[in-house]
Amino acid sequence: MVLSDHPFFIQKLKQMNILGISGSPNSKGNTAYTVNYALEVLKERGYQTKYISLSGKKIKPCIGCWKCSESYTCFQKDDMEEILDAMKWSHGLLIGSPVYFGMITGQLKTMMDRCVVMRPNYGDTIPMSGKTGGAIACAYSRNGGQEYTIQNIHTFMLQMNMSVIGDGPNYHHSGATIFGEHASDDLWGLETAKNLALNLAANIEFKKYK
Ligand SMILES: Cc1cc2nc3c(=O)[nH]c(=O)nc-3n(C[C@H](O)[C@H](O)[C@H](O)COP(=O)(O)O)c2cc1C
Repeated sequence: MVLSDHPFFIQKLKQMNILGISGSPNSKGNTAYTVNYALEVLKERGYQTKYISLSGKKIKPCIGCWKCSESYTCFQKDDMEEILDAMKWSHGLLIGSPVYFGMITGQLKTMMDRCVVMRPNYGDTIPMSGKTGGAIACAYSRNGGQEYTIQNIHTFMLQMNMSVIGDGPNYHHSGATIFGEHASDDLWGLETAKNLALNLAANIEFKKYK
């Protein structure tokens, strides 16, 4: 029996939670499609998954008041609370963004800034510490800024003291990249999303059984 078929392994695996966030203002756009495509790969393999779209979410910008460094909570009450809870619940995180002027969207950056509440004292108690993350970028052009956008997401994850992974076998690039009008037509790009999901799973399992 291979390790992955062992009932204990499968049971443990089922407790692993993966959160996918789409940073697009479009609830049914390419980023939503691709993040869910990757989550489906993980769900089929027994992972618990949760999907959050920033479309329609009310997230006020961080005002840099640093009140959270004393209270460990943000005085601004909005949809950010649900997102922070989901991030704490997750063992692995996939963040996708459309490319806007070669970068992540403003909606996603606003969400990232509000995550400062999770690391107010720069100590070793950041709830995301040691968790694994991967990035997905969707652009109209083939060379539309996907890799810069992935770097934006990786930088955020590194500052949350997370580990980042790329799409691993077969291409070993930085993450999942989609181009064109419809993500569903970009079969190569969807392959990178699948590989990213599988590499995330492999990384989490490696950490767990090491
Ligand atoms: C404000 C804005 C800026 C954009 N900038 C770029 C860009 O720099 N490069 C690119 O290839 N596509 C760019 N696009 C196109 C989107 O990245 C592309 O349509 C993406 O697939 C949209 O994802 P969504 O359907 O998840 O919203 C831009 C679109 C908008 C609205």
